[in-house]
Amino acid sequence: MKILFVGDVYGRTGRQMIQDYLPKLKSKFNPTATIVNAENAAHGKGLTKKIYRQLLEVGADMLTMGNHTWDNREIFEFIDDAKQLVRPANFPAGTPGTGLRFLTLPHNIQVAVINIQGRVFLPPLDDPFSTVKQLVDEARKKTPIIFIDVHAETTSEKLALGWYLDGTVSAVVGTHTHVQTADERIFPQGTAYLTDVGMTGPYNGIIGVQRASVTKRFLTSMPVRFESEEGPGQLSAVLIHVNDKTGKASKIERILINDDHLFFD
Ligand SMILES: [Fe+2]
Repeated sequence: MKILFVGDVYGRTGRQMIQDYLPKLKSKFNPTATIVNAENAAHGKGLTKKIYRQLLEVGADMLTMGNHTWDNREIFEFIDDAKQLVRPANFPAGTPGTGLRFLTLPHNIQVAVINIQGRVFLPPLDDPFSTVKQLVDEARKKTPIIFIDVHAETTSEKLALGWYLDGTVSAVVGTHTHVQTADERIFPQGTAYLTDVGMTGPYNGIIGVQRASVTKRFLTSMPVRFESEEGPGQLSAVLIHVNDKTGKASKIERILINDDHLFFD
């Protein structure tokens, strides 16, 4: 089976890139499961119910989130009913939503999707290592096919989680930095790994945000309102080939579509 994972959808430009390219990617690569990180899908901050539905309609099977999960207050109205959404699992007990959900696919294939958030240079949360270990143990009772979105700032924390989980999950893929890394690999025990899948959003912004406002903030250190950049978009994704029976990954391929990396179907 194959898992297609699309990185951080940012604002209107990101959603447009999904509309334009997700159907093409699906017909080219024929993924069994399609997962999309949507924590920046509503104007760069959070997710609305309408956008949740739109992303599923255009072909996502499951959405993952991150540190912006709560930025759009609408999330509180629908997160507990959103069966195709996971938020970072290491929020304290009692937080709405869940960090582990199962996808049931044709041929009785089940995929566990787990979202976890790092703690380095991000607000404090419960320990991602022990939390994810517990959820992986729980998921493995149902299926060996387990996908983890590690939403974290630093390469070291993501790499540490990748090695920590090697052999127990199918894939550990990072999100949050919005810049795709080129370190895709299969760890020795069969876990596919990529430090960051990158952003799906404005190509000529600074991690999605208007260049002028980010530059102003760096130059003045004053508070500046961040808006999405306009102009051409990009899409960042990864395709992972997984053995249905063992859950081990055999191949991981990066996908990057922008004005400098054209898409050919
Ligand atoms: Fe984030």
